[in-house]
Amino acid sequence: QQNSVEIDSSCGGMGTCGTCRVFVIEGLNYLPQRNEIEAEMAVDRGFDVTERLSCQSYPERNLTIQKPK
Ligand code: FES
Repeated sequence: QQNSVEIDSSCGGMGTCGTCRVFVIEGLNYLPQRNEIEAEMAVDRGFDVTERLSCQSYPERNLTIQKPK
């Protein structure tokens, strides 16, 4: 959102809805590991390693992402 990328959000960034889910195409190494909130959802919903909650992810550099279709 800070970079004018429109990301859906039903829970307002609380990490509970999953609507902000994106796939990281390039730059996964610039993202810290999942926090506890994201890790729990990733296990519950079977996220791929490249599948991240944008509301819980703060990259250190630019990323290339793809929103789910
Ligand atoms: Fe709901 Fe990210 S906005 S989980």
